[in-house]
Amino acid sequence: MLAGEIESQIANGVLLEGEKIPSVRQTSQHHNLSITTVLRAYVLLESRGIIESRPQSGYFVRPRVARPVPAPAPPPLMLSSEVDVSRLVLKTLRSIRTDGAVPLGSPYADPSRYPWKRLSQYANGIARRHQEWSVMNDLPPGHPQLIRQIARRHLENGLAVDPGEIIITVGATEAINLCLQAVARPGDTIAVESPTYYAMLHAIERLGMRAVEVATDPKEGMDLEALASLIAGQEIAACMVMPNFQNPLGFQMSDERKRALVELLAGHDIPVIENDVYHELYYGDSHPTSLKSFDTKGLVLHCASFSKSLTAAYRIGWCLPGRYTADVEKLKFLNTLGTSSLPQMAIAEYLQNDGYDGHLRKMRKAFAQQARIMAAAVLRFFPAGTRVSEPMGGYVLWVELPGRVDAMTLYARALEEGITVGPGNMFSARGSFNHFIRLNYSYPWSAAIEAAVKRLGRMVAELAQEAS
Ligand SMILES: Cc1ncc(COP(=O)(O)O)c(C=O)c1O
Repeated sequence: MLAGEIESQIANGVLLEGEKIPSVRQTSQHHNLSITTVLRAYVLLESRGIIESRPQSGYFVRPRVARPVPAPAPPPLMLSSEVDVSRLVLKTLRSIRTDGAVPLGSPYADPSRYPWKRLSQYANGIARRHQEWSVMNDLPPGHPQLIRQIARRHLENGLAVDPGEIIITVGATEAINLCLQAVARPGDTIAVESPTYYAMLHAIERLGMRAVEVATDPKEGMDLEALASLIAGQEIAACMVMPNFQNPLGFQMSDERKRALVELLAGHDIPVIENDVYHELYYGDSHPTSLKSFDTKGLVLHCASFSKSLTAAYRIGWCLPGRYTADVEKLKFLNTLGTSSLPQMAIAEYLQNDGYDGHLRKMRKAFAQQARIMAAAVLRFFPAGTRVSEPMGGYVLWVELPGRVDAMTLYARALEEGITVGPGNMFSARGSFNHFIRLNYSYPWSAAIEAAVKRLGRMVAELAQEAS
């Protein structure tokens, strides 16, 4: 089976002639197989002339075999509350952008964490080499060099994907919107986590659909029993989830629960949109799995981007829409014609030539440490009764305010003093979570940040007193 998987990665061009394949040790870790099993597969491939071993260097791909024809995609499925949160979110995000404000409310990480200079060097080099560029080169699915790098990265992370399924988008935001549009129609009901990342709600709002919020445990993720009884009682056109380092809760669903979720939905032929933008920012020892790896029916539409791991400013994301690939590719074309190639190529060159893994290791280590510092500071400076999440990746902390202190009032008062927070109201279509806030801890801990957290704690105490 492993041999077959590697063979198809070579056949579909993820691994090229002469290229090194993942080491025996890496493959054994990612696939949870013994070294002997992996070695046996490699020796089998070698005996078939597909790969070759080079002393002291590992295994390499020998001349390529033909590309298999992808299976035809079946047509999309035709198959609660109205959503209107975008105005509040846009207003809040604009205020958070205010120069000089303490950026605890920002959805994006500290930009100085990212290799902006290196990316710019690649972009400048590409611009110099190509004296002109036709937009015809930007048509979907995207730049082949980047598609190959993304497929390689998925493979390194233990997910063998068909590069023919990858569609490059303008950030994960566009990927989520296109995928939702491909699987559901206006008026349909979409199941989401509660709380959920507001751009999921925006997609539902934009497409005139309805959201139904399913109880979500801060450590385990969506309540699968609640989801099952929801599906039994009403028509659900699709489900949208973030199984890894959910924004705002920060949990990572266990593999058992990921598998159970995929099987539950597959049993009813319900597609699931998986938002995996934080995949690379795990604090544990190894990469999390994606829902996609449990998908046997092409019903998982996997969405991701480089916004959290490399740069948000290039606006490069992608999706793997499973059986909806042809539909999403068409929608991508109709939506924006294509995604600009220059940033795609710069990212592809960075991934190919630079220290992506080293950069990620540094970022993960810093975020894991800062998560602990921020949580400890909130518990120290906020009044008794305050509760905080335990993020397993990413860079945001979810804070429950005591005494049902109103998050919008806190947000407004804090803003007057140059401190931003993410009010919990943004994460629900029903106005739930209005006594929660989300805090960004990606910025290096400093006296200014500590003072801001302390000040917020005092404001919460004052508001709690006013409310009592
Ligand atoms: C969960 C989640 N999904 C998607 C995005 C946006 O991704 P992108 O910048 O790639 O559109 C964010 C950014 O805050 C996010 O937190």
